[in-house]
Amino acid sequence: MTEKKNYQHWKLEFDAANILWLHFDMADSGVNLLSSKVLDELDSILDDLATDLPQGVVILSDKKDSFIFGADIKEFTTLENQSQAVQFLERGHALMNKIEALPRPTVSMIHGMCLGGGTELSLACHYRVMSSEDCSRIGLPEIKLGIFPGYGGTVRSIRRSGPIAAMNMMLTGRALTARAAMKTGLVDEVVPLRQLKHAARRFIMDSPKPRKLGLLQRIANHKLLRPMIASQMRKQVAKKAIQEHYPAPYRLIELWKNYADSPSEMLHQEINEVSQLATSSSAKNLVRVFFLQETLKQHGKQIEFKAKHVHVIGGGIMGGDIASWCAIKGYKVTVQDQNPERLALTTKRAHDSFKKKYKRDRRAIIAANDRLMMDHKGFGIAQADIIIEAIFEDAEVKRELYKSIEPQMKESAILATNTSSIMLEDLSSSLKNPGRLVGLHFFNPVALMPLVEIIHGENTDQTVLQQASAFARSIGKLPLPVKSAPGFLVNRILMPYLLEAVIMIDEGIAAESIDKAATDFGMPMGPIELADTVGLDVCKNVASILSKTMDTQIPANLENMVKAGNLGKKTGSGFYQYKKGRIQKNKKVQHKNIEQLQDRLVMKLLNESVACLREGIVENEDMIDAGVIFGTGFAPFRSGTMYHIHNQGVEKIIDIMTELEKRFGNRFKADEYWQEIK
Ligand code: NAI
Repeated sequence: MTEKKNYQHWKLEFDAANILWLHFDMADSGVNLLSSKVLDELDSILDDLATDLPQGVVILSDKKDSFIFGADIKEFTTLENQSQAVQFLERGHALMNKIEALPRPTVSMIHGMCLGGGTELSLACHYRVMSSEDCSRIGLPEIKLGIFPGYGGTVRSIRRSGPIAAMNMMLTGRALTARAAMKTGLVDEVVPLRQLKHAARRFIMDSPKPRKLGLLQRIANHKLLRPMIASQMRKQVAKKAIQEHYPAPYRLIELWKNYADSPSEMLHQEINEVSQLATSSSAKNLVRVFFLQETLKQHGKQIEFKAKHVHVIGGGIMGGDIASWCAIKGYKVTVQDQNPERLALTTKRAHDSFKKKYKRDRRAIIAANDRLMMDHKGFGIAQADIIIEAIFEDAEVKRELYKSIEPQMKESAILATNTSSIMLEDLSSSLKNPGRLVGLHFFNPVALMPLVEIIHGENTDQTVLQQASAFARSIGKLPLPVKSAPGFLVNRILMPYLLEAVIMIDEGIAAESIDKAATDFGMPMGPIELADTVGLDVCKNVASILSKTMDTQIPANLENMVKAGNLGKKTGSGFYQYKKGRIQKNKKVQHKNIEQLQDRLVMKLLNESVACLREGIVENEDMIDAGVIFGTGFAPFRSGTMYHIHNQGVEKIIDIMTELEKRFGNRFKADEYWQEIK
């Protein structure tokens, strides 16, 4: 019997059948991470086992509803050069190989999140059993950090699931449900949580032959077919990420294409490739984005807000989508609108989004429908813990509404407005208790945009602000506290950039060239296409509000478009034409001076970010970066506008702005605060 040692992160339990239940419970941490210390301990446990083998080993987690979240990314940031990265990875490889080589059956018993290194460790075990619970997911999300699996996960995931499913999982970074994981062969059995231990024990006792890959998957791995399939994969990836900015997916495809015939060589090359990627600027910047996201998540943690019932007023584009999103996240939701016909549309749209979310899971669709109630008369106001107002963007109408609903609201309920441009101080004046008004600025489309700006006015109560952040977290959004000021943060930074793009149209530059300049820089969509998508009327409204306080003018072109009713995608015509909702771009446009266009656009984003910092719109530079990345999609591999400024050097950027000011005038004048940016 193995000598009883005390470990900090692992607990060994031998049952009557001499099966070792290896409990992972990382000390001083809410989640399990494969840190160096954790791996050291596991290594020593495995060494001990070699001399005294149990019947089998089951790896399980003692954390509630979560398995292993992956490697400790903080350690990853300490890697200074490629040789350090090689050492780091070789160590992980050696450990995974040791697990794989154990001469007794090993089972990874997965319940809750199993990601990255956690998945690689599971793949090194002989079998994987997974709970069918909703919280269980398995995936290899490393690509989001600018790398790919580096503990042997490339070879082992392909071995288990075949190249198509495994590469798809690694290239998208998407985590699979238990059902999907079972279908791809990544796990061997899926059972309800209460049967999970039994299933794990059965695999140890029966030690069945591993599942074989289907014929199609084996053929796809053949060396004659791989170049063709790899080229298809590259095309798919290119739709989302260009190689120059995001090399990792392209390198992963090459790795598979070149080495899939020899697993040992592929493992070796995996170390080589990942160690290069891990120390690249793309990966370092993406890791920073990961930590920015973690910081935003902290905003919801200062307070516990036990809301159950959400009442949404205004069942339009935003209100309707906010309501269905909250219902998906488990809230009881009532939706009020002055127009009953609008509510009929809201019901239909919500049903469509439930179907999209839950696919063929009819029970989940019915449950979400049950949680969402149309409430023309507003009976829900008196029961709700949070009321979200999303009616027309008109301060007077909003104030009137608040005055009429305040007496009906529960004492403890908070009132949130989704206004995109009106100052909170302008809205709260009709309330007896102005402190309960906070802004919850969602972005369109609600289901896809991760950020919610939490707007605090001068009067907003600190507790209400924290409750609003906690609520945003509870529906899976990233809360960013923002001071009430025209345009708040995201629209404020975005608008001068969009207007500059419209000025370029006035100058006769093709929309396609303007958009190309932005997407070449790394924006997910060009500014002209974005303006068309948001709606040119909406853009004009925000621009006119900002023009009252900022030195911006609305270009004639934008005015004319709105006057003519060409509002963009929603009317089928804007700066582009749309056929059945699909944008019609002219592929024959000859692009000229793309770099100069890029400078004009990017300088607008950078200068406005600096102005926001000066005005204290958000807490610090990191929060500006988080806002632009999660709110505007600003090139994540550049890690935000402020980070980009430091990366390029303040002097260099000011030189570009000075040149632009000479050519285009005052609108390129550098903000006075640039002097303070170090
Ligand atoms: P919308 O026009 O689609 O919907 C507004 C709804 O409010 C309509 O159904 C209308 O019948 C209802 N309504 C108006 N006054 C009402 C009242 N007194 N009582 C009950 N219902 C009333 O507008 P949308 O686009 O959903 O915008 C709503 C709010 O969200 C606005 O404040 C807007 O600035 C903001 N917003 C809009 C975004 C967008 O992309 N459309 C993005 C972020 C914020």
